[in-house]
Amino acid sequence: MSEKSFARYNDEKTTSEMLEEMLSRKRSTAQRRWRILAKALMGSQESVSMNAEDDSAEDEVSVRRFTSFGLLMVARTEKPATEPDSTSWYEYSTVLENKLFTVQIRRIKKNFTANELIGFNNTGNICVWPSEECLAYYLLKNRQICQDARILELGGGMSCLAGVIAAKYCDPRKVTLTDGNATSVNNVRSIVARNGMADFVECGVLQWAKAAKMFRAARSAKTFLHPQSNGLRIKSWTGSGKDAWKILEKVYDVILCADCLFFDEARSDLVETIYGCLTNDGVALLMAPRRGTTFQKFAEAAVKRGFVARQIDRYDANIWSMHLELLEHSQEYCPDLHYPILLELTKQKKTPPG
Ligand SMILES: C[S@@+](CC[C@H](N)C(=O)[O-])C[C@H]1O[C@@H](n2cnc3c(N)ncnc32)[C@H](O)[C@@H]1O
Repeated sequence: MSEKSFARYNDEKTTSEMLEEMLSRKRSTAQRRWRILAKALMGSQESVSMNAEDDSAEDEVSVRRFTSFGLLMVARTEKPATEPDSTSWYEYSTVLENKLFTVQIRRIKKNFTANELIGFNNTGNICVWPSEECLAYYLLKNRQICQDARILELGGGMSCLAGVIAAKYCDPRKVTLTDGNATSVNNVRSIVARNGMADFVECGVLQWAKAAKMFRAARSAKTFLHPQSNGLRIKSWTGSGKDAWKILEKVYDVILCADCLFFDEARSDLVETIYGCLTNDGVALLMAPRRGTTFQKFAEAAVKRGFVARQIDRYDANIWSMHLELLEHSQEYCPDLHYPILLELTKQKKTPPG
């Protein structure tokens, strides 16, 4: 329907008729989504596509329309013949100050089974979210932040794009890339190998609830080893938690985290994990859209824990001008869901006694 005929169509309707129509359209989309989900959860062998970048018939369950600020060019590249159909390789690149920056990223294009849907959070396997893109771009433009630093990315999803870019271009001392979802982490392992960074980048499954539990336990037992320690005393540890222990026994100068602040139930665990992992003079860079009150609540929880929090809306002139442009011209763009704000956390300086 053209804009003109849409206006005329609307003129002929009362406001309540239009509202009713909108609501019923919303209801039927929701019903369709639930029907698909229910089918999967009720044991059907069929799988459900939730890939937001998949513009095929599965659009019914697509979860967003605005996909990227276009800060990095994304071009599909060849993939090894041995790889499954559910993965594709892309080159993410940009030119800054006449220099080309490029990394190879594997994306999962997967139909989720019922078991996967009811298992650990899968939002990081849907797409590379705009917050991750903005954080990666911000680090490229501010490469000194990560120079000679021990970097930890939390909740990096299937790409850990920001951490991968930092590893390749920011001259860090060591990089650790994590997510709570094992499928995401396996994908990141392939990315690290293909970009030739396996000698100084490690990957591991790290769930914030488990990490926070360890830090709280260590705090209450006061088992501090030395001033730079995070308080964890590592005993012999085997099994599925091995990854986590290896990651948590170290401290980090820079912590990266993109679009992870909206999990109400995980808020205090994520705050505690960042607090436990960060050195006293380190910085955590968290990029996330406002998403209702979730960003604000996270910032408040971080301050309560002892962080100094700085919220920076205009951290990059280019991203800000794209945001303004989108506000004016795009109907799909909703800043509350799409414009990532930067939250910088540092630890409160303890004044020495006397
Ligand atoms: C919206 S996705 C963002 C992924 C990625 N940072 C991006 O922006 O593309 C949120 C990520 O947080 C991870 N996550 C959610 N809850 C978690 C938890 N309790 N522990 C560890 N990771 C978690 C998910 O697995 C997912 O990858």
